[in-house]
Amino acid sequence: MQRGKFVSVEGIEGVGKSTNIDVLVRCIEQAGHKVLTTREPGGTPFAEDIREILMNRADEPVPEIAELLLMFAARSFNVNNVIVPALEAGTWVVCDRFTDSSRAYQGGGRGLPMETIDRVADWVHGDTWPDLTILLDAPVEIGMDRAGKRSDPDRFEQERHDFFQRVRECYLRIAANEPERIVVIDTTRSLDEVRVDIAAIAQQLLSN
Ligand code: TMP
Repeated sequence: MQRGKFVSVEGIEGVGKSTNIDVLVRCIEQAGHKVLTTREPGGTPFAEDIREILMNRADEPVPEIAELLLMFAARSFNVNNVIVPALEAGTWVVCDRFTDSSRAYQGGGRGLPMETIDRVADWVHGDTWPDLTILLDAPVEIGMDRAGKRSDPDRFEQERHDFFQRVRECYLRIAANEPERIVVIDTTRSLDEVRVDIAAIAQQLLSN
């Protein structure tokens, strides 16, 4: 049985993750592979409960370290109970966010040291890293403008411009450091142009 491939999709709010994940999944399915989509924080019943707390509890300040550890607690459930079993069964996995989100939001956004985050990542999921990460990128104003149209913002969506600016810059630094894993896609272009890029990236991975 050939192991499935693991793809994560990253980006700040409002960059069009859902639409582009749909495009990506269709490309992989058309090539004849079974695909499982999951998301973080979340992806299993236990991890979805952690997500609910992380996104919506607003009655008490959340220490940055608690936020980081809860993200990784949820990730541990998803990796052990969903992602690795699927990959081992030959299924491809497309994950809406993974550890690069913790690096960008808890590292870049909240200011936690990257070495700490990477140490926790190593502890929680060892070598289980995506084969490919698609970073959807757009200036913060554009992302916030699109995301701002959603009603009832969660705890992260309530953050301000400079927070997302730090998150975006951190994402771009991570991508520059790991060009063999991370592909950056400019989502300020038309949906069709972005779709063509996603399909080309999927084709490249499919032919590896
Ligand atoms: P979303 O999946 O709807 O984009 O929302 C998830 C939110 O959680 C988003 O604002 C990013 C944030 N997040 C982190 O801060 N760290 C993480 O490790 C993950 C997976 C998400």
